[in-house]
Amino acid sequence: MQLTLEEQDMLEGQYGRATQKAMQILHALGTIYSAECMLPVTSVQIAGVSYDNLGEAGLQFLTEMADGGGRARVLTTLNPAGMDTENWQSLGIAEDFARSQLRLIQAFARMGVIATCTCTPYLVGNVPHYGEHIAWAESSAVCYANSVLGARTNREGGPSALAAALTGRTPAYGFHLDEARKPDLTVIVKTQLEGTLAFGALGMVIGGKMEASSHRRRVPYIIGVESASLEELKSLCASLATYGGAALFHMEGVTPESALHTPPDEAFTITRDALDTAIRSMNPDEDTPVDFVSLGCPHLSIQEIARIAELLKGKQVTKTFWITTARPTKQVADRMGYTEIIEASGAQFAADTCCVVAPIQGRFRVMATDSAKACYYATGKNKFKTVLKSFDEVVLEALR
Ligand code: F3S
Repeated sequence: MQLTLEEQDMLEGQYGRATQKAMQILHALGTIYSAECMLPVTSVQIAGVSYDNLGEAGLQFLTEMADGGGRARVLTTLNPAGMDTENWQSLGIAEDFARSQLRLIQAFARMGVIATCTCTPYLVGNVPHYGEHIAWAESSAVCYANSVLGARTNREGGPSALAAALTGRTPAYGFHLDEARKPDLTVIVKTQLEGTLAFGALGMVIGGKMEASSHRRRVPYIIGVESASLEELKSLCASLATYGGAALFHMEGVTPESALHTPPDEAFTITRDALDTAIRSMNPDEDTPVDFVSLGCPHLSIQEIARIAELLKGKQVTKTFWITTARPTKQVADRMGYTEIIEASGAQFAADTCCVVAPIQGRFRVMATDSAKACYYATGKNKFKTVLKSFDEVVLEALR
């Protein structure tokens, strides 16, 4: 693997222990994937931020990297943490957990990482442009960056994303190269799609098809979708990344580089029935009473928060209702008066975190959400049952 003089110096420790460790990680990765060289990156998103997932071993690794002089060289933001960093007490987070979580975020901050704690960094200022090489580690955001923004990233893990931040480099392989970005499966959508639930279901169905042929790399080329909002696309990305492991899709009229490709010969068609079946498969226990309602997977946009405020205005929720979003988005909601309306209803903002990475195992029995990704992880990790509904129906469920 060809390294520049500066990269070689990093590897030999001239830039300190942490940068050396970071370059060792990237060099090993590049060697495994036969990368010819490193590429400069312009943006990094680090996942694996919740103390619930990282534990003491993760905290120790990050502390060592910070003590070793690690310093981000490019704009680097963080995925959701295990709690709202300002309002954790009212969400029922234990003090011990909070202390460890704050130390963990502090270790990132000492390295110059911006502690945004969101899985939608593209909504709060970390917005790479078409063709930029980046190193992102949140699967839904990776899919969004590649497919909607046209930036280029592999699905990084937490350590390789941190290593990219500290060196400003990533090995040149996978989705950084033209070859891997070619579509190899056409998806013909033969139904009208509207709302985050429908787009999430679309991701489930395409993802299932991709998984069924997982011996091959799959990049779907989706045709037949007339329009898609930012919120619908973030839902599709989260679901497609979860159910199919996708890092990139092409969609006519959406993906900046889709016009460079023609739809591949191998094709399958998606009808309304397939979407309905996918949604039904997530609702096996529809009659069990819901005791937890959560919206914001991926983190909510200001438009979604405005809609929640509209639906909750002057009403009272009857269940625990978490609204998960990035803190800067919550601050916009504060200024626009949405927070006051929402909190008057009894619903709670859970900024910086989400229903999957917060340590809430065993606290609830059935969660209602519009997110296919949240259902997948909540049933697995947090052992909730789930009910998958449309965005508006989820809000109405909280009032029922
Ligand atoms: Fe984001 Fe948590 Fe969903 S990290 S994509 S809200 S599982």
